[in-house]
Amino acid sequence: MTASTSTATTHPALRPAQEVPEEVALRVTGQLPQELRGTLYRNGPGRWEGGGFVARHAFDGDGLVSKFVIDGGAVRFQSRYVRTPKFLAEEAGRGGGVRGMGNQRPGGVLGNVGRYPADSANTHAIVQADRLLALSDVGRPWEIDLDDLTTRGSCDFDGKLPMLSRFSPHPRLDPVTGELFNFGVDLAPRLAAGLPIGLRCYRVDRAGRLHIEATVPLAHAHIQHDFAITERYFVFVLAPIVLDPIKAMLGLSTAEGATTYRPDIGTKIVLVPRHGGKRREIDCPPLMYVHINNAFEDRGDVVVDLVRYDDYREFFDPARDFRTPSIVGGYASRLRVSRADKVTIADFSDQRTEMPQHDQRRTSSPYRYGYHATLDSRPDSSNRISKIDTETGRHWEHVFEPGDAVGEPIFVPRSATAAEDDGWLLTAVYLAAENRSALVVLDARDPSRAPIAVAATDHHFFPGFHGSFTDRVAVPRY
Ligand SMILES: [Fe+2]
Repeated sequence: MTASTSTATTHPALRPAQEVPEEVALRVTGQLPQELRGTLYRNGPGRWEGGGFVARHAFDGDGLVSKFVIDGGAVRFQSRYVRTPKFLAEEAGRGGGVRGMGNQRPGGVLGNVGRYPADSANTHAIVQADRLLALSDVGRPWEIDLDDLTTRGSCDFDGKLPMLSRFSPHPRLDPVTGELFNFGVDLAPRLAAGLPIGLRCYRVDRAGRLHIEATVPLAHAHIQHDFAITERYFVFVLAPIVLDPIKAMLGLSTAEGATTYRPDIGTKIVLVPRHGGKRREIDCPPLMYVHINNAFEDRGDVVVDLVRYDDYREFFDPARDFRTPSIVGGYASRLRVSRADKVTIADFSDQRTEMPQHDQRRTSSPYRYGYHATLDSRPDSSNRISKIDTETGRHWEHVFEPGDAVGEPIFVPRSATAAEDDGWLLTAVYLAAENRSALVVLDARDPSRAPIAVAATDHHFFPGFHGSFTDRVAVPRY
């Protein structure tokens, strides 16, 4: 499959984004609530071409971290690319030598053997222990300055993150303890030592110190993007998406080309105790999904809410052919693992959605409301932010103008003690009619209503993959 560089049919939000290296004040329409105060960080690919590199997979775009600082009814904006070796090579005109998820370097097998795909640091921006981390599937954390978004460097947690280990892009913050939980699938170091592939389970304490809580041997090199926590468990739903590590590491194929969907191996659910004890492993029929919303324990069952796909190609093909307009999305679903290890799954809706979110004060515990976005880049299609009441099945939808591209809706509570759902949904949106990007603030209780406020930039950027809101107001520094 050859990537097209034509912009004739490519969604305009995917054109290269300029960084905004100094904070600018945004024009706000509507009225931002005084109680809404803090910083929304976003991360996502900002460009897919540079210095001779032309991405052949959506995940090979350079990470652009942006921030919206909301204070006193005003909004300030800033964005910077993460200074990864890939980005710097492109800036120096050496992008043609970059091996990506979907790109091989020149030189055939010899030019690619033993090389990990380049890290684009483009998937998440999360704040913990006074640190802003940019994360991706293929790399290690990058520490980003909370205030001016400059790249401080690679983060290995004072040497505690094992050499060549991954640190996945969907950590989970425990709202009670302030600890950050995460995992990484180790391939090369363990294979080289003759050990099985290992799923490492991490806990980063409130002081930012990393601890390895467990290492689970795996029979396959799962491409595992997300996980969840409950009060007692790390929860892994290992979809049958696997990498052939030999093929990839020997340079015989790109990482994307060495990845296959293997329904024959089924899906394995692994519950790793957070506080010690024996892990549970449950085999079930193959399940294709990418994102988990939340998980919790319910009368001894483990409940996992995720976005289920009917067919792996509904995600894989648009991610590879990202310049071609498409719809990406699955069905908001609830997977339940009984105390007897029986697995059931049921959809909440027949609407295709993605980017699931919840009130993060409910992470790891029972919750009621899910918030989603649609990812539809087809001409004249309208994207939506939706809300689902998981108890009643009721839906709310905010429908944007045709051609607008929306990002995940981040819930911000009205106050620390406000009830679940009493707050706002913050989402980055590319406004097609104005060819600019904006922060859109919706009332979470009824997102179908007109936005409470819109803060428009003078630029455009892809709304990004993931991000975080923090009460901390980033300080301008020039
Ligand atoms: Fe993700």
